[in-house]
Amino acid sequence: MFEVEKIRKDFPMLNNTMNGHPLVYLDNSATTFKPQEVIDGVNYFYSALTANTHRGDYDIAFKVDTEIDNARSNIARFIGCDPKEVVFTSGCTHSLNLVANSFGKQLIKKDDVILLTYAEHASNVLPWFKLAEETGARIEYIPLTEEGRLTVDNVHKAINEKVKLISIAQVGNVLGYAAPIKEICQLAHNNGIKVIVDGAQSVPHLKINVRDLDCDFLTFSGHKMCGPSGIGVLYGKKELLDSMEPTFYGGGSNARFKADGEILLKETPEKFEAGTPNIEGIMGLSRAVTYLENIGMDEICQYEKELAGYLINQLKEMDNIILYNPNSDTGIVTFNVKDIFPQDASGYLNHQGIAVRSGNHCAKLLVNQIGTDATIRCSIYFYNTKEDVDQLVEALKTCTIENCLATFF
Ligand code: ALA
Repeated sequence: MFEVEKIRKDFPMLNNTMNGHPLVYLDNSATTFKPQEVIDGVNYFYSALTANTHRGDYDIAFKVDTEIDNARSNIARFIGCDPKEVVFTSGCTHSLNLVANSFGKQLIKKDDVILLTYAEHASNVLPWFKLAEETGARIEYIPLTEEGRLTVDNVHKAINEKVKLISIAQVGNVLGYAAPIKEICQLAHNNGIKVIVDGAQSVPHLKINVRDLDCDFLTFSGHKMCGPSGIGVLYGKKELLDSMEPTFYGGGSNARFKADGEILLKETPEKFEAGTPNIEGIMGLSRAVTYLENIGMDEICQYEKELAGYLINQLKEMDNIILYNPNSDTGIVTFNVKDIFPQDASGYLNHQGIAVRSGNHCAKLLVNQIGTDATIRCSIYFYNTKEDVDQLVEALKTCTIENCLATFF
C-alpha cells in the first residue's frame, strides 16, 4: 500500500521551512529531493569507500569496482536492457549531446531531416540545431494536436524519405503529456528512421522497458529521480553503441595506445566513459532506483496522476486561473493566474512557502503552441500530499495584484 506519510520521513529536505512556512515543494520536474538511503550511499563513498575505479589493486578499489558493476546491472534491469547498454553520463543533456555528436554525426548527411516537436526543452533541441548546422541537415517539427499532444498520426504526416532521426520527449516538461513511444518507434523503424527518447520527465515517474518500447536511445538524469546531480544515463541498443565513436577520449576508455597515435578502445559502454566517473553519483543513482522500485513505479505513477487530478479539479473551478493542460497524463500541471505575471505569482507563492517554477521551462518553442511565453508549473512527485495541493490552491485564491505588491514592497 502507498503510505505517503511514511515515505515522507525518508526525505530530510521535507523537514525544512521556507519564509516561515513548512516547505511545500512542487518543482519536481526541475529536480527532486533525495531519500536518506541515497544520501547514505553517497556518504558511504566519501566516508568508507573513497578510491578510484578500475585502477587500484587494493580492497577498497575492488569494492568500488563492484559497486559500479552492480549499479550498472541494477539500472539496466530497471529499464529492461543489458548492462552493456548503459553508459554513465553527467545527465540527460550530456546523453543527448553524446548521441547527437557521435551517432548523429555518423548518420546525418546534407539535406537529411531531423524531426523534433515544439514541446522539447533546450537539451533536446540545441544539440540537433548544432548538428544540422554542421552537416547541412534540416530540422522539421512534428505538428502537435491543438491540445499540445504528440500523436502517431502526426508523426506519420511529418515523415518523408529525408527523415533519418526523430528525437522526442516521452513526457513533455511543460504540458506533462505522455507520447505513444512504442507506436512511434514502430512507425519510424518501418521507415528506416532511428528514435531517440528523452526520458528526463518519464523515467522518474513511469515504468519503462526499452525493449518493449524498442527505442534506439533513451536518456535520463539521476537528480530528477531521487538520485544525485551530475549523473545520468544514455541507453543505446548495443549494436548502435558499438558503431559509435566516443566524443571524449582519455583514461578508462582505452585498452592500449601507441606513440604513432593508434588507439585501441575498450568495449561499449566503457569506451564512452573516459576519465574518473562520478562514482558517488553512480552509487547514489543505483540506490535511488532500488528505492523507487521498492515503492513501485506503477504505484508512483498512479498516485501522482490522482494528486494532479485533485489539483486540476480545483483549478478548473477558479475564475482567476488559466489552465494549459487539464488532461495532463502525469504530475505536471501548468497554469497562469489571470492578469498576473507568472514570476510575480510564483514570488507570491514563495512567500507562502510554496516552490513552483515559472517562465518558459526551457521549452522556448512551446510558446508557438500554447500562446504564452511564460507559465507557472506545479510538478508533483510521490512524496507530495493533498495538503500540499490544498496549500497551493489556497495561496492561489489570494494571489491578486494587490497581494503580490504587498508581498514585494
Ligand atoms: N528541464 C528541467 C525542467 O523542466 C530543468 O525544469
